[in-house]
Amino acid sequence: MSKDSAIRTENLSLGYDGKTVVSDLSLSISKGKFSVLIGPNGCGKSTLLRSFIRGQRRLSGRILIEERAIDTFPANALARRLSMLAQVLPVPEGVTVRQLIAYGRSPYNGIWGRLRSSDGEVIQAVMKRLDIAALADVNVDSLSGGQRQRAWIAMVLAQETPIVLLDEPTTFLDISHQVELLEIARGLVAGGRTVVAVLHDINMALRYADEVIVLDNGRLVASGPPVQIAERSLFSDVFNIDVRIVEDPAVGTPMIVLEQKI
Ligand SMILES: Nc1ncnc2c1ncn2[C@@H]1O[C@H](COP(=O)(O)OP(=O)(O)OP(=O)(O)O)[C@@H](O)[C@H]1O
Ligand SMILES: [Mg+2]
Repeated sequence: MSKDSAIRTENLSLGYDGKTVVSDLSLSISKGKFSVLIGPNGCGKSTLLRSFIRGQRRLSGRILIEERAIDTFPANALARRLSMLAQVLPVPEGVTVRQLIAYGRSPYNGIWGRLRSSDGEVIQAVMKRLDIAALADVNVDSLSGGQRQRAWIAMVLAQETPIVLLDEPTTFLDISHQVELLEIARGLVAGGRTVVAVLHDINMALRYADEVIVLDNGRLVASGPPVQIAERSLFSDVFNIDVRIVEDPAVGTPMIVLEQKI
């Protein structure tokens, strides 16, 4: 099974200034699947995701990317394996949408950072996919929240990495663009890539994910396909909500309906 891991952690602990945030986490994220990370605010999801791009100091344990210890990757090699959409996105000033997305091609450019014509094609394609082609020459700082989110997602997709990490990619998006984004994730997976996303919308997670990973207080609570993890006790234990689990009438995946807050 480990051979199929895109990302694997062994007894991983992460934290800040003596405070442990992720504890003794051993987790395997399958290659070529859409994995969705869920868990309450502050449970360590963003911290964990950042550790996969070496953006987080490790207290102990190991991280393996495609079964190779993360520390052994030169920075540029790691950047060609994984891309990440951060939860909090900077608002660059005086940078157009097209320029922002072009930064995503930098791991592929030479030392002068010159774009090739194939880069232009990738940039055009991702803008179209994210429905922002008409905004190509608009400055990122004058976009709406959802438009800006889509420009950043396009920048991440332009990196064309085999592993894509998305921290709350749907937060600012309207329902139609949320669905679009989840379908993009499914499309990437259909093309053989690995996608890991943090979502707060549990029903979207249950509907679109191949695997759901549940974190609580920095610990792994459950992981597996939606049908396996969707149990009432999980939602009461982790989220303090009493739910009814029903079958999504449209697609047959499990779905939660809120009974009450506990
Ligand atoms: N830069 C930081 N310095 C110190 N503590 C931090 C820092 N970033 C996060 N933390 C703390 O680490 C814990 C986990 O934070 P993290 O951002 O990983 O949670 P999360 O699961 O992504 O939450 P959310 O759903 O709200 O995004 C929180 O208690 C948070 O206060
Ligand atoms: Mg977070």
